[in-house]
Amino acid sequence: MKLLFDRVDEPGLNTIDVYRARGGYEPLRRALAMRPDEVVAQIDASGLRGRGGAGFQMGKKAAFIPKGDMDKFLVCNADESEPGTFKDRELMQKNPHQLIEGIAIAAHATGCNRAFIYIRGEYDYVADILDGSVAEARAAGLLNHVDLVVHRGAGAYICGEETALLDSLEGKRGNPRLKPPFPANQGLYQGPTLINNVETLSTVPHVIRMGGAEYAKLGTETSTGTKIVSVSGHVRRPGNYEIELGIPSREIVYGLAGGPAEGRRVKLWFPGGSSAPVLTEEHLDLPYDFDSMAKAGSMLGSGSIIVIDDTVPVIDVAKWVAKFYTHESCGKCTPCREGTRWTLAMVERMDRGEATPMDIEIMAGVQDQIIGHCLCVLGDSMAMPIASLVKHFREEIEAHIEAARARREGIVSPDSPREQPTEATV
Ligand SMILES: Cc1cc2nc3c(=O)[nH]c(=O)nc-3n(C[C@H](O)[C@H](O)[C@H](O)COP(=O)(O)O)c2cc1C
Repeated sequence: MKLLFDRVDEPGLNTIDVYRARGGYEPLRRALAMRPDEVVAQIDASGLRGRGGAGFQMGKKAAFIPKGDMDKFLVCNADESEPGTFKDRELMQKNPHQLIEGIAIAAHATGCNRAFIYIRGEYDYVADILDGSVAEARAAGLLNHVDLVVHRGAGAYICGEETALLDSLEGKRGNPRLKPPFPANQGLYQGPTLINNVETLSTVPHVIRMGGAEYAKLGTETSTGTKIVSVSGHVRRPGNYEIELGIPSREIVYGLAGGPAEGRRVKLWFPGGSSAPVLTEEHLDLPYDFDSMAKAGSMLGSGSIIVIDDTVPVIDVAKWVAKFYTHESCGKCTPCREGTRWTLAMVERMDRGEATPMDIEIMAGVQDQIIGHCLCVLGDSMAMPIASLVKHFREEIEAHIEAARARREGIVSPDSPREQPTEATV
């Protein structure tokens, strides 16, 4: 079942003529003939949940936007900075009008007269495509009700967080704001603001075309529709795949992405980008949807699966996670600024043989103090996967610490190879 990626490689799909020849902008015409609250009702009936990370229902968020004639803003989050996530790039690059149509429909539904696509700076070539497509749509008279601007971000993970994004869009340093107030009430320039991810907004034309109730029949009861999953890491066919939510995770990792190389096996996987707590091979039979991932102690997040095979020591995964979030922490709040650095230093000590197994307990305790105590969830985004690595792989980490200490203290030769995980410790 393909909606967002339907014939996505058709030549010329990024032009308005080909897009229209396929029925594109027909849902917008239909939506503009409806009352705004009727459009919101359709989106609500679809059950569409945000595809950017938090999985909040779009219809509910749109209904929070106050009615009235004040300046209201719609912001499309195209920052796409979560490691392992590369779906929005393909959506924008290959089918920009699908997104523009979704924005135009959502703007009508909420009465937003100004809209921005905040796109990460590294996607410069995609921003050029969008600029051209917005100009085409405007010239065709499709954006008379909303002024749409493509804005290039300067490049920081935190600018994907919705309130930091708003500060960045206002020309300030991208730091998160304290919530509440939420953007729906006080967002860009203190005005009511609807913020949604590229994939969420690209889905809106399909919701209007099919009707909310019909769309809701796809997927599961609480995770409706289709989802683009970015699969990367140790798989034979990495890439973006559109799936119906609720199919077995194994079908994505092995069936679509080909699984790990011959003779290797999945040691762990991140089901929702690097911020998601890791799962293990035994979780591959779970349905891939918001609730199943949450029940297993993780999250669907941005829908990006990163597969790590049994050649990789868990401590390296922990180091990679801690390094990224330490680098990207904006420094505004203490638990994140100090907690990410401290964790990285601790993981490095473990790897150098300067830690004891007791430090695992201390490290897990520090993660507990980060989770839920930060200004935004960037700190949690490091602490959750680190805590999950300890939960699932404590024995391997312990063995790693002991072996590194033995090497350091000369009990075994310092030249002895850094141990690889064995069956017993995996
Ligand atoms: C540190 C951090 C980075 C984020 N990066 C992105 C991002 O790159 N793209 C995105 O759509 N959402 C990102 N989010 C989630 C947004 O804050 C927000 O929930 C999302 O844009 C809402 O859109 P949705 O409801 O359509 O998912 C990030 C959140 C955090 C805490």
